Amino acid sequence: MTTKQQVLDALATVASPDGVPLTSADVLSDVVVTDGKVFFSIAVDAAAVARWEPARKRAEEAVRSLPGVQSALVALTAERRPGGEQPRSAAVGGGAAPRAHGTPPRTVGIPGVEAVIAVASGKGGVGKSTTAVNLALGLRDLGLKVGILDADIYGPSLPRLLAIKERPQTMGGTRLKPISRFGLTVMSIGFLIEEDAPMIWRGPMVISALTQMLREVEWGSLDVMVVDMPPGTGDAQLTMAQQVPLKGAVIVSTPQDLALIDARRGIAMFRKVNVPVLGIVENMSYFHCPRCGERSDIFGHGGARHEAERLGVPFLGEVPLHMEIREKSDSGLPVVATAPEGPHALIYRDIAAKVRDQLRVGTGRAAPRIVIET
Ligand SMILES: Nc1ncnc2c1ncn2[C@@H]1O[C@H](COP(=O)(O)OP(=O)(O)OP(=O)(O)O)[C@@H](O)[C@H]1O
Ligand SMILES: [Mg+2]
Repeated sequence: MTTKQQVLDALATVASPDGVPLTSADVLSDVVVTDGKVFFSIAVDAAAVARWEPARKRAEEAVRSLPGVQSALVALTAERRPGGEQPRSAAVGGGAAPRAHGTPPRTVGIPGVEAVIAVASGKGGVGKSTTAVNLALGLRDLGLKVGILDADIYGPSLPRLLAIKERPQTMGGTRLKPISRFGLTVMSIGFLIEEDAPMIWRGPMVISALTQMLREVEWGSLDVMVVDMPPGTGDAQLTMAQQVPLKGAVIVSTPQDLALIDARRGIAMFRKVNVPVLGIVENMSYFHCPRCGERSDIFGHGGARHEAERLGVPFLGEVPLHMEIREKSDSGLPVVATAPEGPHALIYRDIAAKVRDQLRVGTGRAAPRIVIET
């Protein structure tokens, strides 16, 4: 078992661009060692990032070469700004809007990826991951090339929702090869951490892992990347919303008032960082009794539609509370992929079409045409 001290000793042999050992340069975050995996970040001035990149690489190599280390995630985070000055914004994706004062810049886009969208919720357990997966599949059914990134550090779901057990392979030692499932290109923070790993993730650590998953994964060319965000609107979520070059966000909510209050917070968070809200999905909207066929609005259906109108954001659709969705989701067989002709797949595809229309992606692709010969 590699210890934190061994990692620090290795880092003491790596020099900063100014020739000081990394461990004395006052740039290291806490070092986390779990099950042969090492994570930490190097926080430097935004203007010095390029100068620091070789040191980051050397640090990663030094840690990787320690006995017992299987993988090392070392990221540069531009957290400090020289003299409190704002570095120039390099925002992409609807990023023409001026940034709110004091908002750090959004990172540059991911080469080959046309649009990155977040699926978020103010509250946990509202069906965000289920929606993210089925939305991604709905976009796939529209002929788009789609990737899905599970950025939920608190409870990564994609390994379960897509029944993925394998670990991503590394390519050339540094880049990760994503997993392919149902025609989607998939990466999850759950592939990198053990399911029962303690929640030791803190700000810089989270961001470094996220940066790595965005930029050091061979995503290939994608029309859309769907990011399943961690629930909530705290600092970690806000930082993530800023770090990912988002073209828009989809908010998932259940109809209850309490969930809607959280959804409102989610919308406010994205607005604060100038990410357009593509709309709200009402999940577990109503219940169709499979036995008697009667419909009941357990949670008071329609709240999200009303809220969307009130806040001036699009309403994307209602997904019923249904056993099929839960069972299929939890057994890694999402309903859009495995029951494509069913009523639920139809709902998700409709939501996907509304999202696609707002993003205007994949327009260069020829739509399938039916030619009737006479
Ligand atoms: N429309 C639905 N009908 C029935 N069950 C659903 C529906 N949507 C989600 N579920 C179920 O609810 C549970 C929570 O869903 P999910 O994991 O997608 O939520 P989440 O918001 O991502 O949660 P977390 O905040 O923990 O990440 C899962 O068991 C899922 O199968
Ligand atoms: Mg989830």
